[in-house]
Amino acid sequence: MKEDNRPKFTTKFGVIAATVGSAVGLGNIWRFPYEAGAHGGGAFLAVNILCVLLIGIPVVCAEFLMGRSSRRNIFGAMSALAPKGGRWWRFAGMLGVVSGTLILSFYAVVAGWTLEYLFQSVTGNLTAPDVRDSHAEFMGFTAGWRCVFWTVVLLAVNTVIVLRGVQKGIEKVSNWMMPLLFVLLVMMAVNSLILPGAKEGLSFLFCPDFSHVDSSTVLSALGQAFFSLSVGLGTLTVYGSYFPSRTKIVKSASIMAGLDTMVAIVAGVIIFPAVFSFGMEPAAGPQLVFEVLPDIFRQMTGGGIWAALFFLLLLIASLTSTISLSETGVAFCVEHWNLGRGKAVALTLGIVTFFAIFCALSFGPLSGATLWGMTVFDIFDYVTSNIFLPVGGMLVSIFVGWIVDRATVDRELRPASRFIRRSVIFLLRYVCPVAILAVFLNNLFG
Ligand code: TRP
Repeated sequence: MKEDNRPKFTTKFGVIAATVGSAVGLGNIWRFPYEAGAHGGGAFLAVNILCVLLIGIPVVCAEFLMGRSSRRNIFGAMSALAPKGGRWWRFAGMLGVVSGTLILSFYAVVAGWTLEYLFQSVTGNLTAPDVRDSHAEFMGFTAGWRCVFWTVVLLAVNTVIVLRGVQKGIEKVSNWMMPLLFVLLVMMAVNSLILPGAKEGLSFLFCPDFSHVDSSTVLSALGQAFFSLSVGLGTLTVYGSYFPSRTKIVKSASIMAGLDTMVAIVAGVIIFPAVFSFGMEPAAGPQLVFEVLPDIFRQMTGGGIWAALFFLLLLIASLTSTISLSETGVAFCVEHWNLGRGKAVALTLGIVTFFAIFCALSFGPLSGATLWGMTVFDIFDYVTSNIFLPVGGMLVSIFVGWIVDRATVDRELRPASRFIRRSVIFLLRYVCPVAILAVFLNNLFG
């Protein structure tokens, strides 16, 4: 095993910062509010939390332990940990690397929007009093080439960080970005809570109305849990492979999932009061954050500063996630094609940039290119979150629950108590695969 020359995160804090950095991102601040908004608010949140506890955390543990025990990326881990080289299992690893590329492609576009909005806030244009229609502004911007420009800038920044490597790049950047992100979040939430519509917004988010729950709610809540936890395609396997051997896997997974869910809830607390205060539609879809918030900032004292802070927050959250997505592909190229880090980064990000441009153009020149009513962007988002991630998660849970040697799994889960270790293994063996499959089939045929 490549134990010795593999880079490792250096501190406990670094491990938490990097994993939480991967998990907390647009998934929490941009995607969670619009998914929750579209699926009834509170009921969605309740189902989502259930998915995180019963399915999310065990699969996070599974990915971490695959990485740490093999010291490889998911593709390598599957061959190293399966008896007889896991010829077929490696394809599951491959699926992970491919979906990582697809996710990063549309993710970078949204992260690019945050750059534009940050720029517009700092220059004062976003909150200029003569702007009347945020929807038109958003449509105008995303329809043009500026959107492509910012996507490419974002990917370039990402490239620079990933090039610097695990310790000097990923860990170092996460170490200062994550605390800053938490401070910004709390400031924004307090600010939203004093809006006049706060109560209505909060009850939308926290009082579940289960009459809204159907199979599509459950599938979306599961997809959201996977997306938000960065689970299902090997990102966390790669990070697990950089864990020092003393890192406690169950504890890290729980802290990561806890903080990640908390951030999504806080994002809801920031956004829904504002949506209701200004009489907007919570089910606005992917535009929610970009159309609703600017309207609010415009009407606030010091709105320009709040806007800049918010989009800075979103940018930081996205960057720590895009670097984790990039690292999934980079680690694969380094290990399997024996590329140097520089070449691996160039190859991974080159491919991503190519796809990302198509996603970026989906709102303008390519908005007519649709399949089942979905643009390239929508397809990447829908297919990865609702199909690839759950399938990936199911394969990971079956793999670790049934295929990997039980003693290895048990050793990696220590020092968690016997009860916890058994519960994690039980969930991985029986609950996760069955639940994921059930949700899936129900959605297809239900
Ligand atoms: N979890 C991140 C977010 O919520 C996105 C992300 C990073 C991701 N790495 C991933 C999603 C791997 C799925 C798989 O924004």
